[in-house]
Amino acid sequence: MHKVKSILITGASSGIGEALALAYAKPGISLSLTGRNSERLAKVAKACEQYGATVATANIDVKDAEKLRSWILERDEAVPLDLVIANAGISNAGQSRTEEFDREIFNVNLFGVLNTIYPALSVMQKRQEGQIALISSMAAMYGFPRAPEYCASKAAVKSLGESLRNKVKKQGIKVSVVCPGFIKTPLTDVNKYGMPFLISATKAAKIIIKGLERNQGLIAFPWRMNSVLWLLRVLPHKLAQRIAAYI
Ligand SMILES: NC(=O)c1ccc[n+]([C@@H]2O[C@H](COP(=O)([O-])OP(=O)(O)OC[C@H]3O[C@@H](n4cnc5c(N)ncnc54)[C@H](OP(=O)(O)O)[C@@H]3O)[C@@H](O)[C@H]2O)c1
Repeated sequence: MHKVKSILITGASSGIGEALALAYAKPGISLSLTGRNSERLAKVAKACEQYGATVATANIDVKDAEKLRSWILERDEAVPLDLVIANAGISNAGQSRTEEFDREIFNVNLFGVLNTIYPALSVMQKRQEGQIALISSMAAMYGFPRAPEYCASKAAVKSLGESLRNKVKKQGIKVSVVCPGFIKTPLTDVNKYGMPFLISATKAAKIIIKGLERNQGLIAFPWRMNSVLWLLRVLPHKLAQRIAAYI
């Protein structure tokens, strides 16, 4: 199987993105990492370099489509990208709910993903090869009252990835949707509710990388969380809604 050598990750300054960068970091690997917090991003880059990877970083907000496009094209020109992981995302857990922030969730989680994958697809389509991973969430599997906008943004990303996978397959491009359950990161550290089947970001990164190596269309984990959400979807709607109200 063709091993990826040039990997671009958005949201690499923390959590799952950071864990993915560290897990991929080794000699012969080129990492293009982006995030907003320059201090944390530099720390991740330094650690990856210590593992032997070549690293380029840029502080870019994924909402800035033009800046992100230029950087992705620039990186592709320098080291043709084998794998692009659209990971940057936010949630409203722990935040006071305002309409502005709720809209921001779509801007980052959905439009930020589009801003990442459009330029990536454009260069991969020319080469007729490449791989794209979209980080969705288990929250895509059912709409929970605790986080309507987060669930909806992640459901859109899941649907986008599922559709794209078949659409670009003939062009030699692989697309995977990643749906993690609860992962211990700064994003979930603020949650004040119980998080069943919580796993570390390092473990999540291992599972994601294995799934991408196998070109799995849907990488949904942990399996116990996946099973609970599957059950919710096959239950009669009325009953599922009653259960979801307590989750
Ligand atoms: N943790 C979980 O349980 C869980 C479960 C399912 C899915 N996910 C998804 O996994 C992804 C990573 O989440 P995480 O848990 O690792 O959270 P995290 O630790 O908060 O990391 C989020 C990353 O996204 C970046 N980011 C956020 N907004 C951005 C923006 N506007 N422009 C550029 N970068 C931005 C952050 O960069 P800065 O910090 O530099 O701003 C950070 O690097 C998200 O898409 C999230 O929805 C997480």
